[in-house]
Amino acid sequence: MNQSSLQDHCQEPDIDYRKLDDIIENEFNNEKENLIMILQAIQRTYNYLPKQALTYLSTKIGIPFSQLYGVATFYKTFSLEPRGKNIVSICLGTACHVRGGARVHEKIEDLLQIKDGETSEDKLFTLESVRCIGCCSLGPVVKINEDMHGRLATDEVSKILEQYK
Ligand code: FES
Repeated sequence: MNQSSLQDHCQEPDIDYRKLDDIIENEFNNEKENLIMILQAIQRTYNYLPKQALTYLSTKIGIPFSQLYGVATFYKTFSLEPRGKNIVSICLGTACHVRGGARVHEKIEDLLQIKDGETSEDKLFTLESVRCIGCCSLGPVVKINEDMHGRLATDEVSKILEQYK
């Protein structure tokens, strides 16, 4: 997605520039070398990378917007579009797949009425499939924000999602 279509698709949130300064200056010393960590911190704050925040970051640390945009689109972990309050990552790596990961994936899609990569209408959940999150013996695994849910059966999914509403 180019810069103008990014503008078309995103409703920008109110940006707290003091908070951005805090991240860029206090946490990461205004240093270009810390770019990835700065982007991660901004994404933790907004759940995605708002264009206004990237524009501000660009002037603060002297990296052209196009370059920041390139970095943000290169890493799958970054999102340039608004995401839900809770990020549901379903693992579809081999170990999780053979233990029923696809069925859990379908169940989540049914319950939230969204497909992979989409955000629910109430903006509570974004669903993303991932390839192995490093705890294969617990498969099928779903990570919601920072919480891991392992050995998940399809009939447990609803109860777990309820905890995040
Ligand atoms: S394959 Fe799912 S955690 Fe490794």
